[in-house]
Amino acid sequence: MRKKIVAGNWKMNLSREEALLLISGITSRIESKEKQVIFAPPFLYLYKIAKMCSNFNRIKVAAQNCSKEKEGAFTGEVSAKMIDSCNADYIIIGHSERREYFNESNMDLKEKVDRALENKLDVIFCCGESLNQRKNEVHFSWIRKQLSDSLFHLNAIDFSNIVIAYEPIWAIGTGVTASTNQAQEMHAFIRSCITEKHDTEVAEKTSILYGGSCNPSNSNELFAQEDIDGGLIGGASLNANDFLAIINSF
Ligand code: PGA
Repeated sequence: MRKKIVAGNWKMNLSREEALLLISGITSRIESKEKQVIFAPPFLYLYKIAKMCSNFNRIKVAAQNCSKEKEGAFTGEVSAKMIDSCNADYIIIGHSERREYFNESNMDLKEKVDRALENKLDVIFCCGESLNQRKNEVHFSWIRKQLSDSLFHLNAIDFSNIVIAYEPIWAIGTGVTASTNQAQEMHAFIRSCITEKHDTEVAEKTSILYGGSCNPSNSNELFAQEDIDGGLIGGASLNANDFLAIINSF
């Protein structure tokens, strides 16, 4: 059975005090035993939050990015090795904000994926199309290219450490969510690309999360779709009640 996952991507939000309050507000009230919950705080709080979550089997911690370099003279960068030494479990790689504002190419992301896996970290790999690409009906080929350029060099064993997050750019932080049909259709397509590259067994084991204005009022319907295995949540992960409601909406 595929892992059901709800991950909160805090992006560049919350002071240290606010972050710690949010974590204790959520961990003290989590009931679900069968879902995996992931917090992706800014780097600065990673070590502390990993420590706070270490008593909870089902709670994992993710970094929001890593350097494609292993180590060395790269002022301001953070390596996968550092992230691993702070006891994180995952790295989010290829978020559309990183692709767009920091010019991260599919080839850069491929290197980042390799750095994460070398350090025994799992990857939440984000893919997604712009509104124009959807209007021009190139969204399927675009997603296939994102996957094949950055992930399809991996063998099946390494691929088992990859979670995919489909995040249509036009739905991120906009309040516009993909319809359940649009989301399910793309998730099924992503799974078919994995089947083509590997086989059905690998594809059936890969968790594919939806991201983009997911909130307590739409998560239920989205997560009920056959190929949607949970969510990567931005805005709504900053509020304990909303995030808990999303976790409980499976
Ligand atoms: P959003 O962000 O939930 O605020 O739309 C999702 C994401 O960017 O991961």
